[in-house]
Amino acid sequence: MERNTQAVEGLDVRSGTHGATGIALVRLPGSLRSSGLDRDVRRGLVGPHKHLPPKYFYDARGSWLFEQICSTPEYYPTRTESALLACHARGILDLVAPGTLVEIGSGSSEKTDHFFTACEDLGLSVRYQPFDVCDEALRAAAMRLRARYAWLDMELLVGDYAVDLPVLPYSEGPRLFLFLGGTIGNLNHDEALTFLATLRDTMRPEDYLLLGFDRIKDKRVLDAAYNDAEGYTAQFNLNLLEVLNSRLDADFDARHFAHVAFFNEDEGQIEMHLRARRTHEATMARIGLVTRFVEGETILTEISRKFTPEGMRALLEAAGFRWCRHEEAENGYFSLALVSPT
Ligand code: AVJ
Repeated sequence: MERNTQAVEGLDVRSGTHGATGIALVRLPGSLRSSGLDRDVRRGLVGPHKHLPPKYFYDARGSWLFEQICSTPEYYPTRTESALLACHARGILDLVAPGTLVEIGSGSSEKTDHFFTACEDLGLSVRYQPFDVCDEALRAAAMRLRARYAWLDMELLVGDYAVDLPVLPYSEGPRLFLFLGGTIGNLNHDEALTFLATLRDTMRPEDYLLLGFDRIKDKRVLDAAYNDAEGYTAQFNLNLLEVLNSRLDADFDARHFAHVAFFNEDEGQIEMHLRARRTHEATMARIGLVTRFVEGETILTEISRKFTPEGMRALLEAAGFRWCRHEEAENGYFSLALVSPT
């Protein structure tokens, strides 16, 4: 039944001299984002306290800009988490013995290499289901992985993790779900609890979830991570306006907005905004909507919550998970939690 809502396409990937090989790309219902955008814009861009969900950052350029952010010296999460995975991927694979890795918000899949090389060391063959909102990022990742790990069986899933978890295509277990990078921090408390409980309900008893989460730390370190000197984070934030322009036939002028990001210590979260440099309006022709900004007004484009291990453990337990392993960086900047359904 679910099958009817999923379009499966073949992705042609040239692999060496062996010619074209097909890698399936499955479009889950949440990949049809246009209607969601209409609703989110009506809800979030009219009136005061403007806000948009961060998933709209990730068009092809947004996904590329995020990769540039990951290699800036200020943005510590990627390299910190990658070092943790390098140390612990093998131990995690030993414990879980997965048949499939399902990665939620997989992006470039670069950190996931630590699992694939560990598979090679262990003589283990796994299936990989990367799941992302950006199909260009999925395709690029699949090409790279195909060339590097010819044995890897892949099925690419395009969708929105806020709605598509209940309709993930079947895969042999045990499954190791990966939700890395601190992306859980994009969800507020209630959304995170709902997301985790929904994921928990799709999991079988032998499945595990490996969750990467960013930690509360010195405000100066956090502020710098979201205000890199090269300006990639600013471009990433401002690119949201280009996404609106192309999807909604809108006339947002990026020169009228400034990138603002800071750690809100009371809320324990980074807040990223686009601040209007002057009073002006923008028209979204496709949906017949005009939005007005007064100078200094902001659109909240992303929250990125930071956690203590105790806080994350409480959240996971409330969602029906058992805390199995916790690995943290020596400087306490970033953590991995391995949990299983209770
Ligand atoms: C991809 C959601 C983990 O919250 O740190 C990076 C996105 N935004 N710089 C984060 C992001 C600005 C990132 N996540």
